[in-house]
Amino acid sequence: MSLVGASVNDLDTPALCVDLDAMESNIREMAAACRRQGVGWRPHAKCHKSVDVGRKLIAAGAIGLTCAKLGEAEVFAAAGIKDLLIANELVGPQKVARLVALRRTADPVFCIDHMDQARPISVAMQAAGLRVRAVLEINVGMNRAGILPGEPLLALAKEAKSLPGIELAGVMGWEGHLVTVEDQAEKETRIRAALAQLISTRDLLVANGIPCPIVSCGGTGSFPISLQHPGVTEIEAGGAIFMDAFYRRKCHISAFQLALKVVATVVSRPAPERAIIDAGRKTMNMEMAMPFIDGRNDIEVKGLSAEHGTLILAPKAQNIRIGDRLEIIPGYSDFTNVLHDQFYALRGSRIEAIWPLQGRGKLA
Ligand SMILES: Cc1ncc(COP(=O)(O)O)c(C=O)c1O
Repeated sequence: MSLVGASVNDLDTPALCVDLDAMESNIREMAAACRRQGVGWRPHAKCHKSVDVGRKLIAAGAIGLTCAKLGEAEVFAAAGIKDLLIANELVGPQKVARLVALRRTADPVFCIDHMDQARPISVAMQAAGLRVRAVLEINVGMNRAGILPGEPLLALAKEAKSLPGIELAGVMGWEGHLVTVEDQAEKETRIRAALAQLISTRDLLVANGIPCPIVSCGGTGSFPISLQHPGVTEIEAGGAIFMDAFYRRKCHISAFQLALKVVATVVSRPAPERAIIDAGRKTMNMEMAMPFIDGRNDIEVKGLSAEHGTLILAPKAQNIRIGDRLEIIPGYSDFTNVLHDQFYALRGSRIEAIWPLQGRGKLA
């Protein structure tokens, strides 16, 4: 029997819930900020992996979605969302064949930082009578994938541009190593310096006759700065629609409402100051930041084991009893959502919809 229309109290726990009013407000806020700045919003879908959420984002004005994996892009393309940045390199004959198939129904963009990624894809696209967009992934300091700015990059761009099956569409960088810089002035200075490398790369390409319509970067932890940076054309921030302890407490992002909650039940009260809930590490993430209960300074999420959460209660909270339900803000929404089969989308306390995470497990 479907739970749509039922109360949140009818849910068994633990349950992953989205406060729709809060999420919709976050979506409106981010879409409006990008619109005001004249920058496209291409929210990262890795944090929700849900076709229903993806459609809401497009309806709110997102220019497309960012995906972490080809498998995620396939899910969204099948749902009719066509403009998909795969923020990753695609390597191996299986991926090449799948990208060709995806190109038949959608308009993906993928990343390269070496010709060995670009050549086989160009050959396969050309054989299929197709072309696909690629962006150069630039290492702006994160030291993950990406080519460093400079002359070798220009050589790569020239060679990639000459490939018949590829349309070089711009540059992408991710300033993820800077989102948790504690001092906010230093954070801004360092993010601007990182993005300056992205923009100077664009300038170098354009000066050499290589058009660069896409300059993509930006996440929830950096967007207030990245969005303002001259020359950026797209922002990838995705997790902002949910918010969580990591963005709020480690990245110091004060915008947006806390829309994602794990509803958990107190299952044991072994000591006056200790309560145990039915939500542990297999239900929510604590690596990036500790989960917390909004507005309850008298309850601390002290630790998570696989299936139990340990709460420490100040005297004021010691009236909590077995069977009570609590709403926990996860440490990191991205790593929490992938643990669940569905979101329960709540309007107030009513379950308005149940959204499967169709992209969950699409790791290839
Ligand atoms: C390429 C890329 N862009 C942007 C982001 C930021 O995403 P979010 O806004 O969901 O934190 C990430 C990951 O954190 C990423 O890997």
